[in-house]
Amino acid sequence: MRSLPTGPVEDSSSALFPVGRRGPYPGRTTPVGGLRMAQVYSHAPVLLEDVTELLAHVPTGVVIDGTLGGGGHAAALLSRREDLVVLGLDRDEQATAAASVALERFGSRVVVRHARFASMADVLSASRRAGAIDASLEVVGVLLDLGVSSHQLDTSARGFSYRNEGPLDMRMGTDVGPTAAEFLADVDETTLASLLAENGERRFARSIARSILDAAPTSTAALATAVERAVPAAARRHGHVASRTFQALRIAVNEELEELAGGLAAARELLAVGGRLVVISYHSGEDSLVKATLRDAATGGCLCPPQLPCVCGATPSFRLVSRGAHKASSEEIERNPRARSARLRVAERLFVEDS
Ligand SMILES: C[S@@+](CC[C@H](N)C(=O)[O-])C[C@H]1O[C@@H](n2cnc3c(N)ncnc32)[C@H](O)[C@@H]1O
Repeated sequence: MRSLPTGPVEDSSSALFPVGRRGPYPGRTTPVGGLRMAQVYSHAPVLLEDVTELLAHVPTGVVIDGTLGGGGHAAALLSRREDLVVLGLDRDEQATAAASVALERFGSRVVVRHARFASMADVLSASRRAGAIDASLEVVGVLLDLGVSSHQLDTSARGFSYRNEGPLDMRMGTDVGPTAAEFLADVDETTLASLLAENGERRFARSIARSILDAAPTSTAALATAVERAVPAAARRHGHVASRTFQALRIAVNEELEELAGGLAAARELLAVGGRLVVISYHSGEDSLVKATLRDAATGGCLCPPQLPCVCGATPSFRLVSRGAHKASSEEIERNPRARSARLRVAERLFVEDS
């Protein structure tokens, strides 16, 4: 398998749902609820056919879509399998508002909650207690389509993109935690340089970190300028010079890798026999964590040399449904460039006898 690009792909796509209205920044959205919202929610689900096909063969039960977005994957799955219920979570209220409208036609087969996916077990228990989900239904699928939506990237007021001028926010959920500007006001140069280096910005991490802290940016444009100042024109690679910095900062602000570790652990606990965990990653930091977690589940943590029979007594609790990662076809990438960096991995829960 070819090694993964660490840089982000910023792209927008289709699927239009109403979600916000314009404010002081171009594209600013003010959540005002339901259909009164004027701006459109735009996101084309990536690897839609693969996701739907992989989850089409699970037993009857609940599929937790931990990254509901505009509900594109959820809608396809609910249409394909009439015996499934989807518990859809998103930490972004604009997404849950848009998805609630988009999925309304599925009635009680969809339960939408504004929550982080690392807390999926608690949300599921609360939904069962409230009677929104039948307690007899087991969890037969967990879908994590990681990262940000096209809507988040394209809405300048959310501050995710070097392409659109806006406040330096970058929070997926606008109701909690420090913004990217606040994060930068608090971080030291060494920590920031390490974050950038971990995200593939090895050569200029230190000078970019220094330039950013000197500039103390509060807008996306000011951050992009600070990065440009630190990287000599001759050393710039393909893509925007600030893309890795924006991605690294977004990952840190949203604690994305910690969330992913929590989500994967919860999915491993919750899935019933025959249930499937499907994860789509968009950069190598995410994909490495997913790959290692699924390998651990599929080997039971066995440490014996791979060429010898296992003697350590490890018991696999999952099987890998496919070796390696699924990637988007060239036609999909043509239609939706964001799909270029997508890597899908899938594992299925095995029956494990109690010892
Ligand atoms: C790539 S989009 C998902 C798109 C979705 N699959 C669809 O078909 O429209 C990622 C979404 O996941 C959400 N998200 C990312 N991390 C999350 C987390 N830890 N918990 C809940 N939602 C998260 C983002 O807010 C964003 O809306």
